[in-house]
Amino acid sequence: MFDGKGKHVLVAGGTSGINLGIAEGFAKTGATVSVFSRSQDKVDAAVEKLIAHGTQAWGGTADVRDPDAVQAVLQGAVDANGPIDVLVSGAAGNFPAPALGMSSNAFGSVVGIDLLGSFHVLRFAFEHLNKPGASIINISAPQAWLPMALQSHVCAAKAGVDMLTKTLALEWGPMGVRVNSLVPGPIKDTEGMDRLLVDKSKAGELIKTVPLQRMGTVEDCADVALFLASDYARYVSGAILPVDGGWSLAGAQIAMSHAMMGS
Ligand code: COA
Ligand code: NAP
Repeated sequence: MFDGKGKHVLVAGGTSGINLGIAEGFAKTGATVSVFSRSQDKVDAAVEKLIAHGTQAWGGTADVRDPDAVQAVLQGAVDANGPIDVLVSGAAGNFPAPALGMSSNAFGSVVGIDLLGSFHVLRFAFEHLNKPGASIINISAPQAWLPMALQSHVCAAKAGVDMLTKTLALEWGPMGVRVNSLVPGPIKDTEGMDRLLVDKSKAGELIKTVPLQRMGTVEDCADVALFLASDYARYVSGAILPVDGGWSLAGAQIAMSHAMMGS
């Protein structure tokens, strides 16, 4: 589906969970993969995993909220592996909290990572993209268009990420750059799901709200990322693509949100 040979894929926030699964999906195609996040330990472990797939990998550290650090880490990746063919932007933070239980810094930390961080990654990666033909994939969330209690910060931030996808698809399309959002649903064995499913005994109820009757896997997300980066998706730009087993169609997660979060 996606032939990674000779391609450089960079995954921002690619050192754990869904984003690392996507990085591994690309590594398996023979692509050279670069990842970065804040923790050097996570970067080292991720690079080791990627190399185990038999490809070349590079890792660096940066906080996406810091524009200088983002520019430096992107330069490091490009110096090591050349211009970027596929850019995945997935760094994010989440915790369940009512708006009245959040300080300005709490709300701002999530908006700063998810939204401003995505802007930094895309804005400063643009000059390094292999154009025309580059593909950008923003990792969004159902909260972008479905209001969820205790998630005002994430809803606001991810709605902004999807608008960034659409506006940059407009601005960068003429330069041969496609920009899309991949929207994971409830993905098992991830930090994000662990944080939201406060009451683990509700997992069965959650699954009943998914039309396909199971939680998703990081591989489900990785396969769709490969599609979006591939030539099969050459005429797809500005799309917001759920990978959620139909969960967002059901609308049930709005009612479920209190149960998921144990309230
Ligand atoms: N309820 C209310 N406020 C909370 C909170 C919670 N559960 N958890 C953190 N905060 C507040 C902190 O108190 C702080 O505000 P303050 O300075 O007014 O006290 C603010 O959020 C920032 O916290 P801090 O720990 O300093 O931020 P950070 O930048 O180190 O980390 C987070 C960012 C908070 C998002 C952290 O959870 C994180 O690093 N997450 C990454 C992993 C993750 O969330 N994965 C799932 C992705 S979907
Ligand atoms: P995760 O494992 O915690 O992944 C988040 C990644 O972002 C980590 O590698 C983390 O590494 C990095 N990161 C966090 N803050 C950063 C910062 N300020 N600067 C740079 N890197 C940062 O969580 P996940 O659940 O797999 O989520 C991955 C993506 O999927 C997120 O965009 C999330 O919103 C989305 N999503 C997840 C689900 C789900 O079910 N899990 C559902 C919908 C959407 P460091 O800690 O080293 O920085």
